[in-house]
Amino acid sequence: MTDYKNIVVLTGAGVSAESGLQTFRDNGGLWEGQRVEDVATPEAFAANPAFVQKFYNLRRQQLLTPSVTRNAAHDALAAFEQSFLGEFTLVTQNVDNLHQQAGSKNIFPMHGELLKARCVSCDSVCEWSDDILAESACGHCGCRASLRPHIVWFGEMPLYMSGIEEALERCDLFVSIGTSSVVYPAAGFAQVAHYNGATTVELNLEPSAHGSKFDKAYYGLATQVVPNFFAKL
Ligand code: APR
Repeated sequence: MTDYKNIVVLTGAGVSAESGLQTFRDNGGLWEGQRVEDVATPEAFAANPAFVQKFYNLRRQQLLTPSVTRNAAHDALAAFEQSFLGEFTLVTQNVDNLHQQAGSKNIFPMHGELLKARCVSCDSVCEWSDDILAESACGHCGCRASLRPHIVWFGEMPLYMSGIEEALERCDLFVSIGTSSVVYPAAGFAQVAHYNGATTVELNLEPSAHGSKFDKAYYGLATQVVPNFFAKL
């Protein structure tokens, strides 16, 4: 078993690609046919809430189709966490629930969760698996037309940052999986971990924007490289 005592794993869209969910930057700059600035900014939501809600309603419906399920990479991470005797923290940029479906426990979904809605009136967050409609009422304050997807849009503060920063300070191994490493602050986590003395590893289909800066790197499909890496750890 490994000598590492405190592991932080960061995942991005690549870990869920083989589950049938499109990544963000592998499709000509479009996410499910849309420009990111048209669907993933507070300005887009303010300008055209119905359009943005419809986009996320479709993403939520897609996530809930039976063919979209966790894959061997999600499973390997959850199994490793269960058997690991040290501290294991999973930070994900993904808004799908596939890590949770696989059984990951200590998880920070820093960009929000598709299966949750947030009330802009009372700021409460609740589980949400249906479409969010103009007439949908907040389960907490009852306010109508106040629900938005519980998604961190560009220009908004990611979630769980203090817990993530604490884990990055303590970690002795940092593993980046399936992310292009272009969106901050997540793109800077490997460097923070490195400055704190951690070994850094990249597992991705191809070298990311910071690929050359990792101590070690293994390239290939997440369903192969992730189980291989954690089996040998
Ligand atoms: N296995 C491993 N890696 C893969 C696979 C696969 N099967 N398929 C694609 N990849 C890699 C790509 O090579 C790419 O480097 O996954 C990465 C996905 O990068 P992005 O599409 O940029 O996704 P991500 O890094 O998660 O995006 C970060 O940007 O749009 C915002 O908020 C959104 O959370 C998202 C953030």
